[in-house]
Amino acid sequence: MVQALIKSLLLGDITPDFTANTTHGLISFHDWIGDSWCVFFSHPRDFTPVCTTELGAAARLKTEFDRRNIKPIALSVDSVESHKKWLKDITETQKAEVYFPIIGDESHQVSELYGMIHPNASETVTVRCTFIIDPAKKIRLVLTYPASTGRNFEEILRVIDSLQLTDSNFVATPAGWKWGEDCVILPSITDQADLKKKFPKGWKELKPYLRMTPQPDKK
Ligand code: BEZ
Repeated sequence: MVQALIKSLLLGDITPDFTANTTHGLISFHDWIGDSWCVFFSHPRDFTPVCTTELGAAARLKTEFDRRNIKPIALSVDSVESHKKWLKDITETQKAEVYFPIIGDESHQVSELYGMIHPNASETVTVRCTFIIDPAKKIRLVLTYPASTGRNFEEILRVIDSLQLTDSNFVATPAGWKWGEDCVILPSITDQADLKKKFPKGWKELKPYLRMTPQPDKK
C-alpha cells in the first residue's frame, strides 16, 4: 500500500490556522488562541476508557491552566454531538467539568493538517498528539503518545513553566526540573560582569559549561 507522506509540524513553525466546529461552537483557531498559550491535543475516540480519564485529568487542572494563561482544546474524529453526550460520562466518572472546547473532526480536515492520524497505528482515528503553542502562534512542543498510554498533563504544565521562565531569563531547566528548583545558565553567557548582573543570586560552576543558579524570578 502506498501511503501519503505526512509532513511533520516542527518546533518554531507557525501553527496552521483552521476553522472548525466544536462543543463551544464554530472557532477560528488563531483568533480563538488570542494572547494565550494553547495546549492542543487529540485523542482516539469518544466513549473509550483512557480518553475519558485524560479529558477528566485536563479539566481538573483548570486553575493551573488559568494561572499560566493557557487554553486547552481537544480533538477527535467523532462528531460534536457525540462529544456532548460523552461529556456527561466524564463529569460523572472523573469529577470534573470539561470547560474547554472539543473539536469534532469527522472529515479529518484538522487531524490531517496536524499529522494526527498515523496510518501504521490506525488508518481511521487520531493518536494522542499534543502541541504546545505560544501566544505568537509558534509551536513550542510536539508530543505523540500511543492510544494505549494516557498522558500526564502535569508534565505538560511543567514544560510550559519552563518555556515561560526560559523565554526571558537567560536560563534553561535541567532534567526533571520543577518550579522553584535550580536552573542552568545558558552557555553563551560567559562575561563575568554580565553574569553578575544577570544572576544576582549567584551560581555554582560544576564545569565551565555547567553552571547552576537559583531559579530567577519570572519576568
Ligand atoms: C482508550 O482511550 O481507552 C483507547 C482508545 C483507543 C485504543 C485503546 C484505548
